[in-house]
Amino acid sequence: MSKTSNINRVDGFAKVTGSATYSAEYKTSGVTYACLVGSTIAKGRIKSIDTKKAEWAPGVLAVITHLNVDKPVGYEQPKSRNNFGQPLQIFKDDSILYYDQPIALVIADTFERMQYAASLIKAEYLKETHSTDVQKVINKGKTPERSKDYHRGVEDGYKNAEVILEEEYTIPTEVHNPMELANIIAKWEGNKPIVYTKSQGVEGTRRSIGGVFGVQPEDVEVHSEYLGGAFGMGLHTWPYEIAALIGSKKIGRPVKLVLHREQMFTNVGFRPYTIQKMGLGATKEGKLTGLTHEAVALTSSYEDFTEATVNMSRFMYDCANVSTRYKIVEMDTCTPIWMRGPGEATGSFALESAIDELAHKLDMDPIEFRKRNHAEKDLEQNKPWSSKYLLECYEGGMERIGWKNRKNKPGSVREGEWLVGYGMGTGTFGSYRSPATVKAKFLSNGTLVLQCSVNDMGPGTATMMTAIGAEITGLPAENVVIEMGRSGLPKGPTQGGSATTSSVGSAVHDACNLLVSKAIGLAHETNVFKSTPIANLTLSNGTVISKDDTSKSVTLVSLLNDNKLDELIVENESKGSEEARKYSIYSFSVHFVKVLVNPNLGKIRLAHVVSCADIGTVINQKTSAGQMYGGAVGGIGMGLMESLEIDHRFGRPINNNFADYHVPVNADIEKQEVFFVNKKDPISNPMGTKGLGETALVGMAPAIANAVFNATGKRVRDLPITLDKII
Ligand code: MOS
Repeated sequence: MSKTSNINRVDGFAKVTGSATYSAEYKTSGVTYACLVGSTIAKGRIKSIDTKKAEWAPGVLAVITHLNVDKPVGYEQPKSRNNFGQPLQIFKDDSILYYDQPIALVIADTFERMQYAASLIKAEYLKETHSTDVQKVINKGKTPERSKDYHRGVEDGYKNAEVILEEEYTIPTEVHNPMELANIIAKWEGNKPIVYTKSQGVEGTRRSIGGVFGVQPEDVEVHSEYLGGAFGMGLHTWPYEIAALIGSKKIGRPVKLVLHREQMFTNVGFRPYTIQKMGLGATKEGKLTGLTHEAVALTSSYEDFTEATVNMSRFMYDCANVSTRYKIVEMDTCTPIWMRGPGEATGSFALESAIDELAHKLDMDPIEFRKRNHAEKDLEQNKPWSSKYLLECYEGGMERIGWKNRKNKPGSVREGEWLVGYGMGTGTFGSYRSPATVKAKFLSNGTLVLQCSVNDMGPGTATMMTAIGAEITGLPAENVVIEMGRSGLPKGPTQGGSATTSSVGSAVHDACNLLVSKAIGLAHETNVFKSTPIANLTLSNGTVISKDDTSKSVTLVSLLNDNKLDELIVENESKGSEEARKYSIYSFSVHFVKVLVNPNLGKIRLAHVVSCADIGTVINQKTSAGQMYGGAVGGIGMGLMESLEIDHRFGRPINNNFADYHVPVNADIEKQEVFFVNKKDPISNPMGTKGLGETALVGMAPAIANAVFNATGKRVRDLPITLDKII
């Protein structure tokens, strides 16, 4: 991928100039404005709800509660707790399952009238005792169906080791908080729902909305062409989306509903509070002999959310005896949802902190310790890696961060009044590939159009598709048009799990190759190339040429015109190979951090951050680096700032706003670098890419904790590492 490996973001201009249309910005005639009124208790029943004043307020079109809702037919179907989609059946009855659960939908003809009417709704409750503090119910966890205990070798074999480490690590609830709020415009055309909504999965949204309203997925129209970030919160169809559709059906007009920032903290998922226990054992020479990783994580009372928190401990290191256990506890909150680096980001904090702690106990450099336990194959699945350039990531990072300046003894290095610490953490994430269909078209004006219903929540999917399409067809990137993010296009996968480039990129790759063959086939039928062997023909910059005789050429435009075609089309589904199943396909990342800590003030400065990754082939350096920078910043938030604080007396958040829920800004990171090994994976897919978005975050939080320890000798095992924990 040469010429196209550094093209600019194709959606960049639209995004920075405001011409990109986000869901709530679509122009829809007759649109009305809605909001959700939330419960002020965390558990109980609605005793009474007074909607009269709101109904009588000027401009109000409807007030919908559990008392007057027209229940969608899908509400009657039995729900599995494992069935993501719309498990909280909004307005179903008088029960309250979490703080700020919607109890009413108010629709009016203007935004201001809607807001005013909503303020008039009063509810009384029958309170029940709620439970929001995971620490209090840590022993009440249950093992979910899909997260069975895992053992390799001797159960809890670490206990027999020469050197043992047993520690507990905690991460608080963290919230995705994309800049673009959750938002939807919902309307109906007869019995067919039409939504403009913030979603990471067009086809998944069609299925879940179809299921709730008893409509075939094909009859659900979904638009989600631009997203202002999502980080996983768009992987679920949320109750607010169903509420807007119920409201629109009732009043027979389009309904626009945008959550308030506060509701983003309570109604659209989060990374769940998780407590982890690690037990590690090694020989005195630094060979890991046992590893036990246990986690207890929060879920809601109505849905079993699980993630792969303990899974990386099964394959990350060469270790004969490994046990993992994962449990969930039901709390009175909204259901969590995958948040960037789901599971592994949480798990890596415990694993990579514990590895650092054990290396310290052994008085060994933590990278040396990791190298001694480098896994040459995946011991969990007993398969070879498709490719693994983790050692190159270590080398690349050590050099860039200046690892040689690190001393094993904490507090040994100073710069003026600042204590200097170096730390690192390893990350990984499965590299998945789902089936994807792409339609590729050459138009008679010399344009290549690529169509797929997949979304682009920000990683640069459209740019990646453009780069691959341009590379294969030999057209300039400016001639490539991407149509994506809506139903009616060839079916793409949900954008999640770092799988989009492997899935949709491969589909673009395959469809474009077929399209090129088709064009060359047509050219071969012309008088110009009749006598040229087809294998000698190639396509470059919109023209079919012969490799041996460059005087001969046929342009794509003339090919189409001569054949009286408006366009040349290929539609093709691509999916993973059987061969790929024989391998274990993972991306790897290593984050390096140099911190400066003021021992008197507890202030932590990130003097230098280096993130290295083995993600196979890098399709586009700019967007990939952007992903890596952004993911690393997410990990810095996790390490130093992010925590949803709950007032357990009331079961509700305290810092549900951007002022009090802290995320890193540019000034928080003094120098940041990204390094890609950029070696093709021979197995993963035709381009040799692996996933990027998640592993960009995984491993960063422990890198910071390890650096802070190296600077100060203080080991912080409960995130975030705020200054009160340092002084
Ligand atoms: Mo990612 S958490 O699969 O959006």
